[in-house]
Amino acid sequence: MNATSDRWDGLLETSVVGSFTSLGYKIRSRGWDAIPAGALSDRTVLITGATSGIGTIVAREAAALGARLRIVARNVDKVRSLRDELVAATGNEDIGYYIADLSLMSDVARVSDEILEGEPDIHVLVNNAVILPSERTLTTEGLELSHATNLVAPFLLTNRMLERLVESAPARIINVISGGMYTQGLALDDLNYEEGDYSGSIAYARAKRGLMILTKMWADRLAGTGVTVNATHPGWVDTPGVRNSIPTFYRLTRPALRTPEQGSDTILWLATSDRAGQETGKLWHDRAIRSEYRFKIGIETTADRNQLWQALSETVGALT
Ligand SMILES: NC(=O)c1ccc[n+]([C@@H]2O[C@H](COP(=O)([O-])OP(=O)(O)OC[C@H]3O[C@@H](n4cnc5c(N)ncnc54)[C@H](OP(=O)(O)O)[C@@H]3O)[C@@H](O)[C@H]2O)c1
Repeated sequence: MNATSDRWDGLLETSVVGSFTSLGYKIRSRGWDAIPAGALSDRTVLITGATSGIGTIVAREAAALGARLRIVARNVDKVRSLRDELVAATGNEDIGYYIADLSLMSDVARVSDEILEGEPDIHVLVNNAVILPSERTLTTEGLELSHATNLVAPFLLTNRMLERLVESAPARIINVISGGMYTQGLALDDLNYEEGDYSGSIAYARAKRGLMILTKMWADRLAGTGVTVNATHPGWVDTPGVRNSIPTFYRLTRPALRTPEQGSDTILWLATSDRAGQETGKLWHDRAIRSEYRFKIGIETTADRNQLWQALSETVGALT
């Protein structure tokens, strides 16, 4: 960035509205380099949540950049037709999929075994799938749905993929989090959201806070292995998820929302750029490192981090 764009970037960062909307993207993206053609050729990219919204665009662009693309999806019909669309759009036929309901840890464990069996290399893992339920819902395994899908699943899937990522290094893990995280800390004594009135947005924000913390913990644990771990929040993006899960927010913000292409840019940049490959354990937005805390909320201690890891390990241990 030059001095002028630095100044604009700093100004935008002072306001959530400026930073998260399409305005922020348009101003910041002036002068960005396009991702070079072929940037992902011979790289295996494994992504969750590609059958909708931001994930679809990440998958399409990764395929266009030459990736060996592997999608984890829960809906066979949707992922089959997505594969057909992506092959037609990009000419890349090396696109495969694995079926799993990521809200069920038994399913995440099973699909992890299948992926490890099927993929000799994994160079990029994108944890992107998300759910934002309006009511507290328990999975058949007894976990609150948002906690299960948005936090326990990426914990389990990523841990199961770690050895393969290290063997494939240089490799990158990209966790898609949310600016909603800024409003919440961990609820370590109530990870399954049993206390108080349920709010889907709070459950979602807590899970994303947890995923940010795991990002830093994996980064520490993987230091020196050639595997980097970063998180990114895409801003406010017009996707089926936002339209259906938070309709009032959608109605109020619609004209200012980013397109899925704009929302996917930093994920693809993190997967490909040399600059991003030099960093680990960071939160990114619009191709720059951002603070994990906007308010004095959610600042965790080392003991909190360890307690989270322990709790997730116990949950996964009991279910797999
Ligand atoms: N859109 C925004 O404004 C915004 C803002 C901040 C952060 N983000 C983050 O960006 C990422 C993508 O968001 P989005 O808005 O594009 O989401 P979306 O349109 O709701 O898509 C969610 C994806 O996750 C999949 N998924 C949900 N539950 C699953 C399960 N149990 N098993 C397997 N797959 C499951 C969905 O599969 P189906 O197609 O089968 O439903 C879909 O592919 C998320 O991590 C989100 O937190 C988005």
